[in-house]
Amino acid sequence: MALQKMTAKKIIEKKRKGEKIVTITSYDYSFAKIVDDCGIDLILVGDSLSMVVLGYKNTLAVTMDEMIHHTKAVTRGVSNAMVVGDMPFLSYKIGVKKAVQNAGRFIQEGGAEAVKVEGGAKICPTIKAMIDADIQVMGHIGLTPQAIYEFGGFLVQGKTIEGAKTLIIDAKKLEKTGVFSIVLESIPWQIAKLITQSVDIPTIGIGAGSYCDGQILVINDMLGLFTDFKPKFLKYFGDIGNSVKMAVNDYQNEVKSGLYPDIEHSYEFPKEDLNEIEEWFENTDLENEVGEK
Ligand code: KIV
Repeated sequence: MALQKMTAKKIIEKKRKGEKIVTITSYDYSFAKIVDDCGIDLILVGDSLSMVVLGYKNTLAVTMDEMIHHTKAVTRGVSNAMVVGDMPFLSYKIGVKKAVQNAGRFIQEGGAEAVKVEGGAKICPTIKAMIDADIQVMGHIGLTPQAIYEFGGFLVQGKTIEGAKTLIIDAKKLEKTGVFSIVLESIPWQIAKLITQSVDIPTIGIGAGSYCDGQILVINDMLGLFTDFKPKFLKYFGDIGNSVKMAVNDYQNEVKSGLYPDIEHSYEFPKEDLNEIEEWFENTDLENEVGEK
């Protein structure tokens, strides 16, 4: 039976029913199609693209145009999951008008159904303007990677009383502003639990423990494709990096030894014409046929 398109309303409904929300990132057509076929609720075209696909050392380098390019590829592969475009660094904290225009590009050009922005209370007026423009917004608090220089690195957030209070208040303010869900990244599970209890919209955890309403992982991380570093919360659900290595080595060995391509993987010339082409080849002076240079 064909699944039905996931929506923000249905995702909120899942929290009410106590059903876990499963979300993951994707950056291209092929992976998005596989992920969508698995029945995943929401696909985030994360700005983690910057690191795991484009090879930059953090998420600050990826541009709006690159994000839109990959969002288009993902939405072409998705029929059921809700697709959310992640607003990159300097695309939304640079004035409300520009922020709404950039958010609109994810919807209009990228084909996404919502955008995600990083930040708490300070970003609420911008989120409100996006929602006023009929753009659905997902929040993101805790370790927001676009602020790593402010934090001093990829550090767990909300570990002090003050830090925890700020996160809880930020979550409430985001909810009040109208986001349909909030990503909680790298915060103590006890604080994620309190936030999850305090809001009616779903919390989606990454490094925020099991009490969140849903989880998200970066697909390249959980498949063992991106192994430059491994945060504590990350669990490898696959070993695609090694599978790719094995396959590429097998291919290399077979090409070198002449095993590949065999006849099974080669095209056949029509049998009835084979003699004629071979005779022509033997009796033709190709240099003469081609003419002088
Ligand atoms: O960019 C990303 O992939 C993200 C998730 C980790 C939530 O923001």
